[in-house]
Amino acid sequence: MEKKYSNTQFIKDFFYFVRNHKAKFIFFSIILTLGILIGLLPPLILAEIINFFIDNTKGINHFYFLLIGFLTSTMIGYSLISFSKYKLEILSNKMQNELKVSSFEKIISGSLAWQDKEKTGNKLERINAGEKDFQKLMGLYIHKGMGNIITTLGVLGIFAFFGLKYLILTVIFLFTYLYFEKIFNKKMSLISLKLKKAKEESSGSSFEISSTISTIKSLGLESHSQKKIFGLEDNILKLKNERRMASTKKWYVVTFIQSLFFALFLFLVGSDIAKGILTIGIFVVYIDYFKKLHNFLAMVSLESNRVIDVKSSFNRMMGLLRSIPEIKEEGAHNLESWKKINFKGVSFGYNKNEKILKNFNLEINKGEKIGVVGFSGSGKSTFFKLLLKLYLPSKGKIIIDDKKIQEIKRDSLLHKISYVPQDVELFNLSIKDNVKISSKANNLKKYNASLSTSLTDEVIKKLPLNDLTILGEKGTRISGGEKQRIGIARALYKDSEILILDEATSNLDFNTEKKIQNNLNKLKNKTLIVSAHRLSTLQNMDKIIYLEKGTIIEQGSFKELLKNKGKFYKLWQKNKAKKKN
Ligand SMILES: Nc1ncnc2c1ncn2[C@@H]1O[C@H](COP(=O)(O)OP(=O)(O)OP(=O)(O)O)[C@@H](O)[C@H]1O
Ligand SMILES: [Mg+2]
Repeated sequence: MEKKYSNTQFIKDFFYFVRNHKAKFIFFSIILTLGILIGLLPPLILAEIINFFIDNTKGINHFYFLLIGFLTSTMIGYSLISFSKYKLEILSNKMQNELKVSSFEKIISGSLAWQDKEKTGNKLERINAGEKDFQKLMGLYIHKGMGNIITTLGVLGIFAFFGLKYLILTVIFLFTYLYFEKIFNKKMSLISLKLKKAKEESSGSSFEISSTISTIKSLGLESHSQKKIFGLEDNILKLKNERRMASTKKWYVVTFIQSLFFALFLFLVGSDIAKGILTIGIFVVYIDYFKKLHNFLAMVSLESNRVIDVKSSFNRMMGLLRSIPEIKEEGAHNLESWKKINFKGVSFGYNKNEKILKNFNLEINKGEKIGVVGFSGSGKSTFFKLLLKLYLPSKGKIIIDDKKIQEIKRDSLLHKISYVPQDVELFNLSIKDNVKISSKANNLKKYNASLSTSLTDEVIKKLPLNDLTILGEKGTRISGGEKQRIGIARALYKDSEILILDEATSNLDFNTEKKIQNNLNKLKNKTLIVSAHRLSTLQNMDKIIYLEKGTIIEQGSFKELLKNKGKFYKLWQKNKAKKKN
């Protein structure tokens, strides 16, 4: 259940986005207020003019005076209003732009552990809805809210001046109206929140489905996916109808209250005119001002629904922005050179109370070549992710020389590591750009070396535009193995001290894998960490660790592990038997 989002918090959040433009915002709001108050004068002058028509005793000069007053107050009022509205509008666009950019920046900065919690599509929907609604809110403030509120206060002041009973009646009317408004709004606010969540869910799922479309098609899950979206959209429709129903009921009640009070008002004015207390001129003014009050209430009624909507998406957006953990994970220390990385009693789970790595102890020395072996799900990729500081250990420490990984700036750590993930992701760019994206350097020699070490040059040779060939979205135009080679080339081009290959050659045939592995073994001054299912590729590693359910149960050189005749030995026997078959 969402925490209650108070109006005060809502206003605070709104002004959070105004913070960079506070002075201008306040200044133009004051100009707008001034314009609106001046705009209240013409009806009063009009009343005097009407009285002059009926009872011409003050002479024509008095009439000219009134006419000029009428014209100038109208002109000045409207000039101030349109000028300040224009300026506020420009400010609003600026703020909206800042909101979007800063939210996106914040989202990207969030740790992966946080990113995993919610679908990216949902997050984007939250930000987009929040941004659009901020614009709505600003539009409301500039064009309706301010104008109507100031007008209403002004009118109340004028009514008080003319007669207490009019003021009292109007105040009672406003409060009755707003009371019912509030009751209905509460109900609609709940529906709105549900609707918002339903929309996010649907948008998140559509995003997920479209980004995995080839898998969905190959699994024949099209109709399943369709059904899922239909179901979610159906729920949205239901909630929309529910909201429409509530708003219809509200309109009914509210219109009744309005008519009732207007009749009461007419009754009072009528009897005062009959008694000779009010002039016809003043009566005309009253009607005009009452119309203004009516406009105010119509706005409250119409726009309060919108504000509720806006409030709830604001809440969703701010909730998201607030949920991004403050970067306590980000250290201040720049990793320059290093000698040793130590995993000391590290435990980690993606979810609370779950242990994917358990009491994981490992020393990685600079220049060492380490092989990682273990069944699927044993935690190999998780180990790499911790090394990349994508996640932090829940217990134990990762120490680089004498600094805990938490103290180290992630950027500086990533600078030291080239990582080829299990599923290489390629961008919709040329092969060349896909490789060179890993480093700012523009080094042809290094580029060619990366291509030949990873045997990407063989792939390129076959393509019509060679390395300028554009890969389709997510690299669909090339094979899985070719993708992996480009992934390795990219990591090599980055030329970091540590190279991590997570099953990075798993889609290649035995010979190609062997060749690439030999090339990699020849690399000088690199710390190599490789996980592989085919054990033979790990023969030349200095050290191999055998992972079982997140714990290292065997550790040593290839030969030592075979001599031990433990689990690694058994796996090796199985591997060999498979190869023979
Ligand atoms: N982002 C995640 N959120 C939750 N659980 C995860 C996440 N990533 C992995 N896991 C779980 O953690 C466990 C270890 O996963 P990991 O990817 O480290 O295994 P692995 O040894 O690399 O396996 P494989 O050989 O199949 O690649 C698995 O049970 C997996 O379901
Ligand atoms: Mg893995």
